[in-house]
Amino acid sequence: MLESITGLQRTHYCAEITKELLDREVTIMGWVQHRRDHGGLVFLDIRDRTGLVQTVFNPQEDALTHKKSHDVRAEYVLALVGRVRMRPEDMINPKLPTGEVEVFIRELRVLNTAKTPPFVVEDEAQVSESVRLKYRYLDLRRPKIMNLFLKRARVVSLTRRFLEEKGFLDIETPVLTKSTPEGARDFLVPSRLSPGSFYALPQSPQLFKQLLMMSGFDRYYQVVKCFRDEDLRADRQPEFTQVDLELSYMSQEEIMGLLEEYMSLLFEDILDLKLSLPLPVLSYREAMCRYGTDRPDTRYELLIQDVSHLLKGSKARVFSEPLSSGGCVRVLNAVEAAPKLSRKQLDDLVDFAISLGAKGLAWIRVTKDGWQGPLVKFLTEEEKGTLTSELSIQTGDILFFGADKEDIVAPILGNIRQKLAEILELIPQGVMKLIWVTDFPMFEYSQEEKRYTALHHPFTAPKEEDLGALIELFKTNISEVKAKAYDLVLNGNEIGGGSIRIHRQDVQQEVFKALGLEPLEAQEKFGFFLEALAYGTPPHGGFAFGLDRLVALLTGAESIREVIAFPKTQKGICPLTDAPGPADERQLAELAIQSTVKKSSLA
Ligand code: AMO
Ligand code: AMP
Repeated sequence: MLESITGLQRTHYCAEITKELLDREVTIMGWVQHRRDHGGLVFLDIRDRTGLVQTVFNPQEDALTHKKSHDVRAEYVLALVGRVRMRPEDMINPKLPTGEVEVFIRELRVLNTAKTPPFVVEDEAQVSESVRLKYRYLDLRRPKIMNLFLKRARVVSLTRRFLEEKGFLDIETPVLTKSTPEGARDFLVPSRLSPGSFYALPQSPQLFKQLLMMSGFDRYYQVVKCFRDEDLRADRQPEFTQVDLELSYMSQEEIMGLLEEYMSLLFEDILDLKLSLPLPVLSYREAMCRYGTDRPDTRYELLIQDVSHLLKGSKARVFSEPLSSGGCVRVLNAVEAAPKLSRKQLDDLVDFAISLGAKGLAWIRVTKDGWQGPLVKFLTEEEKGTLTSELSIQTGDILFFGADKEDIVAPILGNIRQKLAEILELIPQGVMKLIWVTDFPMFEYSQEEKRYTALHHPFTAPKEEDLGALIELFKTNISEVKAKAYDLVLNGNEIGGGSIRIHRQDVQQEVFKALGLEPLEAQEKFGFFLEALAYGTPPHGGFAFGLDRLVALLTGAESIREVIAFPKTQKGICPLTDAPGPADERQLAELAIQSTVKKSSLA
């Protein structure tokens, strides 16, 4: 029989019930975590968003209430009134903040019943992710999971406070808009009122935040949903949240300084860690050469070294061919790895490199009986000598060689470096390494599209400020043009990126041109923006953090799905609501949309 809450008012959250409230009467509301019957005495653990408290029912005190306590089951919703008392010495639970006390209940109301849940709502429950996401509301009741969201809310609150103290204004930008390119596919929304036309959901508020600088707001921020239709991974969701900001009249160094201050606040508050400022800065080039990625994990050494100059005259075709055609030879020295890596693991690493597009992955095992490996026979004593001294090679090391064009070798050895760090357990736990990566190229060549594309986005300012010199560079050496862009990398994850923007219309037009955007196309896609640039645009720049990634890293969560209340699976599906689903015929007709997918395959 369900009872009403009327007349009762919660006095405390569960976790607030400690010794300080001894002998006080309290009213709590929450779910039944656990019921134990100890021959007469009944114990109910009650849970709310703050934690657990133990309640006790004694048949001698109040037979009716005691009887009711027998009938409740896990996840029933209760209101309970009782007196706080100490637990007997031998029943104290030091693991719980409320573990010294219990509430002796005089009134129990069953506010609602619950079906037997598909898994026990506790931290230790072993449940597959698909079941967790289907019953996400139950999953979120688990203290460990709920705690992630308390932390997330704390990060957002600190963020708002910090930015507002610095004079940033929270301004909303449209969600139904035109395409804002950030390198992903757009999600499109058909327009009923303009049949055949589509809105695009924003991949970021990039254009609007720049327009807000043109409007004179000077400092803008927003905690904002962004939408990108891309292949999903542990650190990517189709909709995710950015802490997005933009400021006028600030240099790259000033913006980086401000963001460092923000990061140091978060580290101190959330992790109780003191960040040492200024943060280390790596250029894109250094990052690619030494770590094989533009988001290096600097928690461990294992650096990539270029040995092209040592192997110039090598007899090994694997080295000489790429070297004679403008390529390079780079090597990773896995120190003392020989005893730890089996032959099978070595072969797997070679296969892994090949799966990433390498022609091979030559390795050399340095043993007390000499050097072993497929290419050793081609190396002269002199080459061995110089390699030994330059790479400080010692017995027990394994060398991994990549030989090819630089842009092929770098990411492959970067991936091998990461894989080796995992296998050899080189990644220290509990360490946080935050660094800047700067001096990105403006453009990268897309093999897929057979043209240059913007490495960040097309609104990023080039380092070259003279327009004539810039146009010349576009013609002669486009891949060498550097951007005023900066990424923030935490333990090998890109947690945010930003740049100084182009604020001159003529420069923006040239950049569009360099990207192969015909004037007509540029006009059609970005005409409104190009025009706005012409009405007195202040120099400006900004940044966006990936909030989900940031929170996942600050809380040690394994994927960003953990810190998103209702995330989607790797396939972009929400197992709770079953979105996306088919639309009915009438709706489609109104939107002037016809699906090319046959009905039967939609089911
Ligand atoms: P960028 O595209 O680098 O920059 O995005 C900023 C940050 O957002 C996060 N992020 C994602 N997080 C989860 N799922 C995704 N699919 C996803 N895509 C990106 C990353 C990334 O660093 N407008 C620019 C910023 C600027 O220049 O001010 C932008 O969006 O952590
Ligand atoms: P191959 O001459 O192709 O039989 O290769 C001899 C050895 O060199 C094998 O161990 C290959 O994995 C390795 N190898 C081949 N090509 C490359 C390359 N481009 N970079 C590094 N190692 C390579």
